[in-house]
Amino acid sequence: EKKTNKIIIGFSQCTSSDLWRQSMNSEMFRTASFHPELELIIKDAKGENWRQIKQIENFIEQKVDLLIISPNQSDPITDIAVSAFEQGIPTIIIDRKINSYKYSAYIGADNYEIGKNVAQYLGTLFNTPKKIIEITGLEGSSPAQERHNGFINGIKPNSQLKLVYSEDGKWNQLNAEEITKNIIDSIDFDVVFAHNDIMALGASNIINKNINKKVFIIGIDALPNLGLDMVDKGIINASFLYPTGGNEAINLALKILQKQPHHKLNLLSSAIVDESNAKVLNLQAAQLTIFQDQIEKQIQNIKNQELKYNNQKTLLNTTVIS
Ligand code: FRU
Repeated sequence: EKKTNKIIIGFSQCTSSDLWRQSMNSEMFRTASFHPELELIIKDAKGENWRQIKQIENFIEQKVDLLIISPNQSDPITDIAVSAFEQGIPTIIIDRKINSYKYSAYIGADNYEIGKNVAQYLGTLFNTPKKIIEITGLEGSSPAQERHNGFINGIKPNSQLKLVYSEDGKWNQLNAEEITKNIIDSIDFDVVFAHNDIMALGASNIINKNINKKVFIIGIDALPNLGLDMVDKGIINASFLYPTGGNEAINLALKILQKQPHHKLNLLSSAIVDESNAKVLNLQAAQLTIFQDQIEKQIQNIKNQELKYNNQKTLLNTTVIS
């Protein structure tokens, strides 16, 4: 039951163990902090469907005013997400999808398009035959399926590009290292397409230790301090920007809560990051981080002032009463 008169947004986050998710969370907190009427609660499902279902159930019981969900896997989370929506809770699905259109809005970049763009980008780079290894994201999570399908369709018209091996790296670096270790001696390849940058990093670590041959490594996310930096330093060769949408999700939530018109499908744009633009993007990102830090310090200052003010008020009240 609600015990506050604030507007409560519950965000069910599939995991918070990587920097991309942590950035999404802090973007949301930052944007929400500009709206004192909002209270944002983030629950981390730690990559477990059962935990995410429980946490969404709790949000429903708590009667949150709006629910944001980034489902760990589509199938297992669909029923509970639909049930929340059908019980009248406005629901935003972010980044990963459910298997239903019963929600208020979806927000995220087009993963099919990104997969296809990866293929087309590789096509522009090479005009000799290239053997490609794909390390996919977690099976059953929609970006992994869509990135794979887009990629497959993207390489189809190009007879030079051959996918020779594909395995589930489950979005994490250690699995990608394991996969690369296991195939490095038995499979010949020129390109690694990893569905995110941390898996691309995993592949890069093993390849650098084990073969002298030049392998082209491409990932996805291009997060400042991570993928962007890795491209800038030449640890991986390219990445596609995959914005977290944290800021946009809170703004969309506000629109929905204020009953303003909004789109149901909200697509965020992506772009290639490679040696041609990584340096300048990295410099810009560093500048942005400085601004964000300043904003966060200001927010903290305001909170401290509020606390001080409230304490003084209570003190005053106490004196009057006694
Ligand atoms: C982070 C992440 C990203 C990826 C996204 C897909 O948890 O694995 O690296 O782009 O999720 O949902």
